[in-house]
Amino acid sequence: MKLMNTLIVIALSSFIALSVHAQDKRDYHKSVYESGCETCHDQGTKAFPSDDACLQCHSMSELAEQTKREGHDAKQNPHDSMHYGQDAACMECHGEHTKKKAICMDCHNFNYPKFK
Ligand code: HEC
Ligand code: HEC
Ligand code: HEC
Ligand code: HEC
Repeated sequence: MKLMNTLIVIALSSFIALSVHAQDKRDYHKSVYESGCETCHDQGTKAFPSDDACLQCHSMSELAEQTKREGHDAKQNPHDSMHYGQDAACMECHGEHTKKKAICMDCHNFNYPKFK
């Protein structure tokens, strides 16, 4: 009986661990989750958020300033690039529940130490 209970506890906790993993949450967005999924999911959780959702709290022109580079590397700025300017959609590069890499890396091998 005792063994049975232990097995159920183990089964339950691995189930919980799996479902948390399936819905990965970034720790830097803890406060965003507290105000509800719809803070990002302005089109419901069955669709990706729009860029406007991210832009409630982040500003592309400030980001372009934060990731600015000098000299030869200047055009590698992901938020103000030679191909897309400041117009690339956040989700081309940033994920929330999934790991992504910046779309630039499909074709280049730049060093982006601050990428999350
Ligand atoms: C309700 C406000 C809010 C919304 C909406 C929001 N964020 Fe954030 N985000 C924050 C806060 C606060 C932080 C932590 C402080 C910081 O780094 O700016 C953060 C941090 C981040 C970081 C990590 C910055 C770092 O280096 O620590 C990324 C990347 C990011 N957000 C991308 C996004 C994207 C993409 C979206 C849209 C899908 C989004 N955020 C929507 C508030 C928001
Ligand atoms: C900080 C912004 C943010 C918050 C908060 C957030 N999501 Fe998301 N969600 C995203 C982004 C960005 C995507 C796009 C794909 C990815 O990154 O996984 C997404 C994708 C999804 C998808 C897949 C939709 C599809 O079309 O395949 C589901 C389901 C989802 N989120 C559920 C939730 C639920 C449930 C919550 C609340 C517990 C939540 N999300 C909170 C940003 C967010
Ligand atoms: C589909 C492939 C592709 C993607 C994605 C891509 N690039 Fe490029 N990029 C190229 C090609 C091809 C060239 C060379 C042709 C040219 O100079 O116009 C180039 C040239 C460059 C150059 C000048 C040459 C160098 O290597 O220094 C920079 C800087 C650059 N890209 C930055 C970016 C950034 C930043 C991103 C992401 C926002 C990005 N690229 C995404 C294909 C791509
Ligand atoms: C073309 C790819 C790309 C797009 C589009 C993009 N980002 Fe980024 N983002 C990056 C990369 C790469 C970095 C890390 C740059 C570095 O290490 O210098 C970054 C860094 C950040 C940071 C951290 C800045 C810091 O100084 O620590 C935040 C916050 C962020 N992005 C949010 C966003 C939001 C919100 C959007 C949409 C409005 C967006 N990004 C669009 C690729 C992108």
